Amino acid sequence: MSVARASKTLLIKGGREGLAGRVGVPGDKSISHRAAMLGSLGEGTTRIRNFLPASDCLSTLEVVRSLGIEVEHNQDEVLVHGRGLMGWREPVRPIECGGSGTTMRLMAGLLAGSPMYSVLAGNAQLSRRPMDRVAEPLRLMGATVLGREDGKYPPLAILGGRLQAILYKTPVASAQVKSALLLAGLFAHGVTSVVESATTRDHTERMLRAMGVEVETQGEVVRVHPTARLESLDISVPGDISSAAFLLAVAAVVPGSRVTVPGVGLNPGRVGILRVLERMGADLHLHNERVEGGEPVADIELRHGPLKGTRVEADEVPSMIDELPVLAVIATQAEGATEVRGAGELRVKETDRIATTVEELRRMGASIEALPDGFLVEGPTRLHGAHVESHDDHRLAMSLAVAALAADGETTIEDTACLDDSFPGFEQALGRLMGDK
Ligand code: S3P
Repeated sequence: MSVARASKTLLIKGGREGLAGRVGVPGDKSISHRAAMLGSLGEGTTRIRNFLPASDCLSTLEVVRSLGIEVEHNQDEVLVHGRGLMGWREPVRPIECGGSGTTMRLMAGLLAGSPMYSVLAGNAQLSRRPMDRVAEPLRLMGATVLGREDGKYPPLAILGGRLQAILYKTPVASAQVKSALLLAGLFAHGVTSVVESATTRDHTERMLRAMGVEVETQGEVVRVHPTARLESLDISVPGDISSAAFLLAVAAVVPGSRVTVPGVGLNPGRVGILRVLERMGADLHLHNERVEGGEPVADIELRHGPLKGTRVEADEVPSMIDELPVLAVIATQAEGATEVRGAGELRVKETDRIATTVEELRRMGASIEALPDGFLVEGPTRLHGAHVESHDDHRLAMSLAVAALAADGETTIEDTACLDDSFPGFEQALGRLMGDK
């Protein structure tokens, strides 16, 4: 059942200067999803601290419950009472993934390996997103996977079990596709290999290793061995770099600002935005670097300073795919051209993020042009307040909020209930940077 969300509006007074603070972000979305899913297949109770209570991850908890797994959610801690690899119960109703692409694609892999019939459904937005990228290889492994328009779109109907390992070269560099296949590979006969054109985030591989699975990575090839059991997890989820990026972006675009985000996960497949900011000349510092829950973590500090334009190519795109809309905002304040190429994947996110980012930033006076696989920004431009629209896309809504802080005048962002999809508390985090109590 898809329920329309109550509409919300965010009003931001721009022309700010000197925003400062040390502001944390909620737990990593990618890791929260994976910990809940894999915990439900583990032996006994998995404890997840700092679980992201965003609507996308709450969808995953409901999905796991619908498979007969008991889940307790208290404050920021989640306990998933796993019943082993064969412990899921065949769901009696379609499994509702809400708007979460990660939930649907990763669950498709796990359900393809499970000897049961299931249907994965999503809201209107998710129902427009391509699923053939996981359905096709899962069929090659022996699962039956049906979908609308010749197997391309949700809902997906899956008849799983008795999989054969394959070697699969992914046509798009996508951690979701890689993960779906590795997860199916847990149940397959033989060693499943995934070859990627560019390296993507490896949270799945790290977590599987922590649960006792044999996973090998050699350059762009990842291999997973089938297993009979997964150990339970006790994990502390680091802060989400994809949320931290918006707070750091505030420091990048608002003169005189200085922002520190503590405890942020720095998975090598996620740090593209930091590399690009450094290349643009940003005054960026990592403090207190450590490893937590098998992932590198640090406090990130950014001090405002002059930035210059840059070029981002296809090989860098997966490591900052979710940060590209906010990079467009940062680029409006940098000297010279910033060009992003090889990012056609942006067109199949929650919205066509090339089209929506260009459309909305232009309303604020940005000099930005859409390219077939990216965008071109000329900077610096003085942005002005405007009436803009999130298109129900959380990352666009947050990007526009950052732009609004740097703009002259007042900006109204329509439809901001979507902020809860990945960053509940975003408004409060901005408020703290603005000195609100
Ligand atoms: C994710 C991978 C990325 C990213 C998404 C989360 C994941 O998607 O955009 O927000 O958790 O694996 P793709 O793998 O489809 O690029």
